[in-house]
Amino acid sequence: MTRHIPKAEIHCHIEGAAPTDLVRSQAQKYGVDMDHLIDGDRFVWADFTSFLEAYDAAAALFRTEEDYALLAQSYLTSIAEEGAIYSEVFISPDHARLAGLSPEAYVNGLGEGIARARESHGIEGRLIVTCVRHFDSEAAIDVARFAAARPHPFITGFGMGGDERIGSHADFARAFDIARDAGLGITTHAGEVAGPDSVRDALEHVRPTRLGHGVRSIEDPALVDQLAQEGIVLEVCPGSNVSLSLYSGFDEHPLPALMEAGVRVTLNSDDPPYFATSLGTEYAIAQDAFGLSDEELLKTTRTALEAAFVDEETRSQLLAKL
Ligand code: HPA
Ligand code: ZN
Repeated sequence: MTRHIPKAEIHCHIEGAAPTDLVRSQAQKYGVDMDHLIDGDRFVWADFTSFLEAYDAAAALFRTEEDYALLAQSYLTSIAEEGAIYSEVFISPDHARLAGLSPEAYVNGLGEGIARARESHGIEGRLIVTCVRHFDSEAAIDVARFAAARPHPFITGFGMGGDERIGSHADFARAFDIARDAGLGITTHAGEVAGPDSVRDALEHVRPTRLGHGVRSIEDPALVDQLAQEGIVLEVCPGSNVSLSLYSGFDEHPLPALMEAGVRVTLNSDDPPYFATSLGTEYAIAQDAFGLSDEELLKTTRTALEAAFVDEETRSQLLAKL
């Protein structure tokens, strides 16, 4: 039981946080057949490619400002009930645009949902605008410009998700420069479905302070040393990694070895209903499968808050809750 441990999450995709019953009701509302992609409380997918396809299809069912307000509110309140005090969600204006929603309405809805959850449950939330690696890199520049204009005070970071097996971070360097120059925090997915070379590529071209996943850095000891030396924080999502078969089980997962090597790690749910997980479940996995003590769990929360893309006053207030 980890309910009593204060938690913080810095890697969760808001479109990927919509549970099956919500996606089913959105599908009904918009008259879309999702039966082939939902089976009971499970999304149907078999590998990383079909996972991304199911994710994109579900995202297309959130079409209004209020759809997103409800999604953000329900996600943040659900993790607050598991003990979360802070949440950064990855958002994707490209997915909103494909669903016919303007980026402005999208972030207004999400911001409204965060404000409602703060009001009812005291949880603090921020938005990380992401571009999508398997969409084109010109679109990424538009997304970065949108984020750089700071259209909402909760937008504090910029990142990239999508299919890591495609292209290089070099193709997105300009988008990341635009975001960094605007003072946004930088993170990106690397070292998940691709190995150490992909992590080095990310570090070289976009200079993130955090990495989404990064776990496959373990395959190169020199890279692990570099991450430890530079204090790069890994947004680790063990349930996601095992679900996507990066590792055959938690006993194969490198989180303990990364901690042992002095790499700063955090615990995250990524796309919780797709991977039958939640933030609380990730802390429970860390306790039960990796043997982390309450103190070590608390340390991962502290690391997340230290690495959070948030103003210093809010950071201090959050750290004081530990
Ligand atoms: N990896 C990469 N891109 C993503 C993911 C993920 O786990 N979830 C949503 N977009
Ligand atoms: Zn992710």
